[in-house]
Amino acid sequence: MVIHFICWPSTKLAWILALLLNLVMMIQVHGQSPSGFVSIDCGFRNSSSYNDTTTGIQFDPDGGFVESGMAKQMTQEFMANARNEQQKTLRSFPDGSRNCYTLPSTIGKKYLLRATFTYGNYDRLNKTRDRSLFLFGLHVGVNLWEVVNLTNIDPSNMIWKEVLTIAPSNSMSVCLINFGSGIPFISSLELRPLKDASYPFVNISVSLNLDDRVRFGTVPEEITRYPTDDYDRYWVTFPNKPNLMILSTTNKVDSLPGNNYFNVPSAIMQNALTVDMNSSGLSISVNSRPERAVLPIFHFAEINGSNPNRRFNIYSVDRLLFSDFSPSRFQVDSVHENGRFLYNPRAFILNKTRNSTLQPLINAAELYSLVRMDNLTTNSDDVNYMKEVKKNYNLRPISWNGDPCSPREYSWEGLTCDYTKSNQNPRIVSVNLSMSGLKGGLAVSFLNMVSLENLDLSHNNLTGSIPDYHLKSLKILNLSNNQLVGPIPDSILQRFQAGLLELRLEGNPICSKVKDTYCSNKKNDIHVLLITVTVSVVLVSLLVLMCIIWKLCWKGKLEDHEDYATNEEETSLNVDIRRFTYAELKLITNEFQSIIGKGGFGIVYHGILENGDEVAVKVLMETSIAESTDFLPEVQTLSKVHHKNLVTLKGYCQNKKCLALIYDFMSRGNLQQLIRGGDDYSLNWEQRLHIALDAAQGLEYLHESCTPSIVHRDVKTPNILLDKNLVGIISDFGLSRAFNDAHTHISTVAAALLAS
Ligand SMILES: *[C@@H]1O[C@H](CO)[C@@H](O)[C@H](O)[C@H]1NC(C)=O
Ligand SMILES: *[C@@H]1O[C@H](CO)[C@@H](O)[C@H](O)[C@H]1NC(C)=O
Ligand SMILES: *[C@@H]1O[C@H](CO)[C@@H](O)[C@H](O)[C@H]1NC(C)=O
Ligand SMILES: *[C@@H]1O[C@H](CO)[C@@H](O)[C@H](O)[C@H]1NC(C)=O
Ligand SMILES: *[C@@H]1O[C@H](CO)[C@@H](O)[C@H](O)[C@H]1NC(C)=O
Ligand SMILES: *[C@@H]1O[C@H](CO)[C@@H](O)[C@H](O)[C@H]1NC(C)=O
Ligand SMILES: *[C@@H]1O[C@H](CO)[C@@H](O)[C@H](O)[C@H]1NC(C)=O
Ligand SMILES: *[C@@H]1O[C@H](CO)[C@@H](O)[C@H](O)[C@H]1NC(C)=O
Ligand SMILES: *[C@@H]1O[C@H](CO)[C@@H](O)[C@H](O)[C@H]1NC(C)=O
Ligand SMILES: *[C@@H]1O[C@H](CO)[C@@H](O)[C@H](O)[C@H]1NC(C)=O
Ligand SMILES: *[C@@H]1O[C@H](CO)[C@@H](O)[C@H](O)[C@H]1NC(C)=O
Ligand SMILES: *[C@@H]1O[C@H](CO)[C@@H](O)[C@H](O)[C@H]1NC(C)=O
Repeated sequence: MVIHFICWPSTKLAWILALLLNLVMMIQVHGQSPSGFVSIDCGFRNSSSYNDTTTGIQFDPDGGFVESGMAKQMTQEFMANARNEQQKTLRSFPDGSRNCYTLPSTIGKKYLLRATFTYGNYDRLNKTRDRSLFLFGLHVGVNLWEVVNLTNIDPSNMIWKEVLTIAPSNSMSVCLINFGSGIPFISSLELRPLKDASYPFVNISVSLNLDDRVRFGTVPEEITRYPTDDYDRYWVTFPNKPNLMILSTTNKVDSLPGNNYFNVPSAIMQNALTVDMNSSGLSISVNSRPERAVLPIFHFAEINGSNPNRRFNIYSVDRLLFSDFSPSRFQVDSVHENGRFLYNPRAFILNKTRNSTLQPLINAAELYSLVRMDNLTTNSDDVNYMKEVKKNYNLRPISWNGDPCSPREYSWEGLTCDYTKSNQNPRIVSVNLSMSGLKGGLAVSFLNMVSLENLDLSHNNLTGSIPDYHLKSLKILNLSNNQLVGPIPDSILQRFQAGLLELRLEGNPICSKVKDTYCSNKKNDIHVLLITVTVSVVLVSLLVLMCIIWKLCWKGKLEDHEDYATNEEETSLNVDIRRFTYAELKLITNEFQSIIGKGGFGIVYHGILENGDEVAVKVLMETSIAESTDFLPEVQTLSKVHHKNLVTLKGYCQNKKCLALIYDFMSRGNLQQLIRGGDDYSLNWEQRLHIALDAAQGLEYLHESCTPSIVHRDVKTPNILLDKNLVGIISDFGLSRAFNDAHTHISTVAAALLAS
């Protein structure tokens, strides 16, 4: 993205500026890096660091920050005119699709990260000028930061990319991505800590890529940076143009009180750009890529000491961003839309308001584009354990670079990761280091990984014994064909014996003494297993098929058959009441739709028999009675009890599917409902007395007239039913004996009748 300035036609000549004072102000070089600066000269071969002659910043060789790539240097032709020492050397990455630098950082801290690139024809292939595409990608951590496009540029040009970002952990990786259009390389890497309050719109999920950062005025240096700028930002001097007018001052320009977001150096604010009175305004045109969301920040300060009336509007093409803005005298006023991104703004226009006596001015501007940090890094524990493993075995596979799992297409070879929890960091579930030349003991780091399920370390030279370790989630452990010796620790053996772990140890000295399945060559076992499994699968499939066919053909009969199949098939029940099937119960209760009561024994449903008689179907709880051998004798007893104050048993159902009693339906419900429900009907004393009498007569019959006599043991208002004439009828008497005493209630119906 490039900023151009365009002015409207003007007849006035450009101001001639007295900038001599500014020219006198030279940058002081002092050889000390502010704390937290990480400065790396990529490909620098000297083993010690050096102090940069211009900035005084100490640069380190890159050996400690990267594991791959080749150190190169620009050709002699470009060496002499190199922009700085760092550009003379570079590191190129002909191998691997992703190569990463790892920089030390502080978790949660805000940083400016800058990478520079000067081709300098280091490979003598004139890559930037051979008319082919020459570009590669840059990742900050696990997210795409920028594309470095060097197609058709001057080989001596320095390209730089900057991003403002928050460190996701105590190290930050910067990766170069090979897109297949030229070999990625890098000349320098710089990490600069920012104050926490600076650039408030940068957060853990939003980073800002620098598109442009310009300062205005006639200054000798092309790029202003540290030590003028504490943060070592690059401020590019905007080239002067006819009919643009430069203002400058020697007065210090301070930050507005309370505004410490940007800390623009005073030296940068001491110069500004304006246009003559005949122009209609300032236009800043932007070559932004249409797909990018951009964020502009304008820095203004009134540096005309006579404090003129200068007011202007700021437009993005024709949308008014800031109206009637008046810069503060010798104070930095930074204007931004509080982190709101604009899409494809082709230009920003500054034009004066009607009563303003002077044209707008501008001192500096920054333009950023949005970098989404949506991709999550691998769980940090997993990362640390893998780093230990890598170090322990001195592993350097080309893909073992940067984050182990993320982004997915650059994950480490031999690892399988779990990305299924989209808002959680990916986890490592499988590690395959088979035939990787591992030497030494079995690293405990593997056993510490809580999400690891499959570990294959077969065909290596692992020695020693297996550490006795409480395995977390490991399901498959293949240590076959190593030099491991016994004993096999209990922790592993127990897991194996419990069937939680598939263990393979064949081809280890450990197996010279042990003869267990994990020590046999499983290849044959697998064959046998495979055959067994295949045969079983075929048989089971056939069986299932047969069952389905049988079921389809015999469905009706089957149901009935099952329905009648009882435990006591032979018991010829000498009763004259009806025996129902489950299917019949379903039919009369309309699929058990209407529940009319619930009790300790089960649920009571309303039903209508074929002849229109209403019945209550009491389905007994299986748990309480299924085993009961008393059920049928009880039914037998109940079927013989006939009294006007005792509920009549009309039928029963007993088989594998159901256990139920079918009674006459009592339309007025039970006494409890009637006493409590009382709205539409309340009992008078005479009625209450009658009901009490009814109950007493029923109980008397049970006690006196039945042989053997029946004791209710659970007389309570819910068990006294009322027919349509409010005659009291006792229920639940027979089952009292079929159940244990747990169900026994001792309560007095009379008390209930009197109390309500
Ligand atoms: C502005 O334009 C007017 C008329 O076109 C001209 O007389 C005047 O000199 C111009 N002023 C400047 C500063 O160029
Ligand atoms: C690197 O080392 C060489 C030889 O030891 C020396 O001439 C050169 O000045 C060193 N470069 C820097 C930047 O220190
Ligand atoms: C760089 O500057 C620091 C601070 O002045 C000094 O201590 C250090 O020795 C210098 N390093 C080199 C390589 O000159
Ligand atoms: C690169 O360009 C130079 C001159 O521009 C030329 O002499 C040289 O042969 C070119 N090299 C290749 C590999 O094309
Ligand atoms: C996140 O990763 C996916 C692939 O794993 C990649 O396609 C995507 O571009 C990445 N997103 C960012 C913001 O880098
Ligand atoms: C890279 O730059 C070249 C030349 O400027 C241009 O043609 C090409 O489209 C650019 N590619 C990308 C991906 O930006
Ligand atoms: C980061 O900032 C953006 C806007 O700048 C906001 O939409 C988003 O919610 C913020 N995310 C977090 C994690 O704070
Ligand atoms: C400064 O402001 C005064 C009016 O307040 C104006 O006359 C003068 O031209 C301005 N100076 C510049 C350099 O714009
Ligand atoms: C300023 O620019 C905007 C956008 O181009 C335009 O609509 C407006 O009329 C201009 N105002 C003046 C006073 O020139
Ligand atoms: C200019 O106009 C604005 C409102 O548009 C007003 O607030 C301001 O006081 C005016 N300034 C002068 C000097 O008249
Ligand atoms: C591990 O990789 C080897 C080849 O490198 C392969 O033969 C083996 O099946 C893999 N193990 C697992 C568990 O995927
Ligand atoms: C194990 O080491 C020996 C020599 O130390 C070597 O001959 C052998 O190839 C190694 N085995 C594996 C699987 O790396």
